[in-house]
Amino acid sequence: MEKIFTIIIFIGIALSVLAESLSGKKLYQQNCMVCHADDGSGAMSDLSERKRLFSVSESQLVERIKKGIQVNSSPISMSPKGGNPDLADGELLKILKYLKNIVQRVNLL
Ligand code: HEC
Repeated sequence: MEKIFTIIIFIGIALSVLAESLSGKKLYQQNCMVCHADDGSGAMSDLSERKRLFSVSESQLVERIKKGIQVNSSPISMSPKGGNPDLADGELLKILKYLKNIVQRVNLL
C-alpha cells in the first residue's frame, strides 16, 4: 500500500514539473517567439549565444524584461514584457527559464 502512495506522489510531482515547463513554453510562444524565434535566434537579436542569460541573476533579467529593452545596435526595441502588460512576475520567470533551456540546447548542438 505504501508503495502505491509513493508512486502516486512521484507521478504527481513529475506531472506538475511538466505542466510548469509547458506553460513556460506556451507563454514564450505567445509573447516572445515573434521576435526571438523558437530557439532564441531571432533575426533581430540572437540570444542563443548570450552568456549574459547565465551570468546575470534571473531576477535581474526579469526586471529587464519588465522594463523593456532598447539597444543601439538593434533596429527594433523590445517593449515592456514583450508588449503584454498582463504577464505577472511568476509568468515572466517561467518564460525566462524556458528561454534559457532552449538556448542551452542550441549551444550544445
Ligand atoms: C518586439 C520584439 C520583441 C518581443 C516581442 C520580445 N523581445 Fe526580447 N528583445 C528584443 C530586442 C530587440 C532585444 C535586444 C536585442 C539585443 O540586445 O541585441 C531583446 C532582448 C531580450 C533579452 C536579452 C536581455 C539582455 O540583458 O541581454 C531577453 C532575456 C529577452 N529579450 C526576453 C524576452 C522575453 C522573455 C519576451 C517575451 C515576454 C521577449 N523578449 C519579447 C525584442 C523583443
